[in-house]
Amino acid sequence: MAEHSAQQAFAPSSSTLLDVKHLSVGFDGSQVVDNLSFNVKAGETLALVGESGSGKSVSALGVMNLLPDNAQVSGERSLAGTDLASLKRSQWKTILGNQVGFVFQEPMTSLNPLHRVGKQIGETLRLHQSLTGKAARQRARELLEQVRLPRPDELLDAWPHQLSGGQRQRVMIAMAIANQPKLLIADEPTTALDVTVQQEILALLRDLRDQHSMGMLFITHDLNLVRAHADRVCVMYQGQQQESGPVSQVFNHPQSDYTAALLAAEPQGRPKPVGRVQPRLEATRLSVAFARPRAGLFRRQPAPFCGRRAH
Ligand SMILES: Nc1ncnc2c1ncn2[C@@H]1O[C@H](COP(=O)(O)OP(=O)(O)OP(=O)(O)O)[C@@H](O)[C@H]1O
Ligand SMILES: [Mg+2]
Repeated sequence: MAEHSAQQAFAPSSSTLLDVKHLSVGFDGSQVVDNLSFNVKAGETLALVGESGSGKSVSALGVMNLLPDNAQVSGERSLAGTDLASLKRSQWKTILGNQVGFVFQEPMTSLNPLHRVGKQIGETLRLHQSLTGKAARQRARELLEQVRLPRPDELLDAWPHQLSGGQRQRVMIAMAIANQPKLLIADEPTTALDVTVQQEILALLRDLRDQHSMGMLFITHDLNLVRAHADRVCVMYQGQQQESGPVSQVFNHPQSDYTAALLAAEPQGRPKPVGRVQPRLEATRLSVAFARPRAGLFRRQPAPFCGRRAH
């Protein structure tokens, strides 16, 4: 690990929200994260970067006590001065709902397919703010507006399967920020999305971070996204921290061989233009429509949500 950059980047200050030192995670005796240290300050984004399987997700989940019972987690971890390692099970509910918001990679598996969007956001509000009925619906509507989803009233009554991937991810973000957390953990929040939607979601996360002075732990394997969206970066390889520091410093002057190799492996330039080829698949005048759901046996009711702008 690059000592110089690590000291500079990881000396905790008064604005440090999350402080993790010497984190190790193992499953049934086999260690997958070894001696990882990082911190996240209010108003900044720290990227945890590394190839698949390097231990990014288990580190975040381990710190937040979200791993299964066969996991062993050790090391110091504190959130806004609270020692997370000594929390009782009953205290975690408050921390996770009120102080930490999670956005996961695949929103379809994180949203309950059996509940409408409004009900799912309402549940978070009921649990953590005791909001119910009209007040909860009004707040849920505001949250959908905050994440820039059009036609929020209709969306509240939509089922998750009726939304596009980008729309579902925005709903997840609305739920993650519902209780105004201090820290937002975004674990590969845009991997399943196309490049344009990816940029929009990341810009939204940055705006929300700034509006609410949140700290953000951004987990990704995409160096371009780190460059564009993070202030500091912590590079992991096979469960070990390779180096850490401000993004420009680590990317311009990598101290570890692994970071240098990772940067060298990035695709350069533009792809060669494709010459004249016969199309393999062609579609003209394609239309897609969904039948309106029936209410009762014969009566039709308006479709609850059909996004015009499918992001
Ligand atoms: N529940 C589990 N039981 C046993 N091993 C696990 C468990 N969850 C994760 N692991 C192992 O821990 C290691 C790190 O996994 P992790 O999910 O943190 O990787 P990652 O860096 O997030 O990768 P990706 O970019 O693919 O999401 C992997 O070797 C994985 O197999
Ligand atoms: Mg992961």
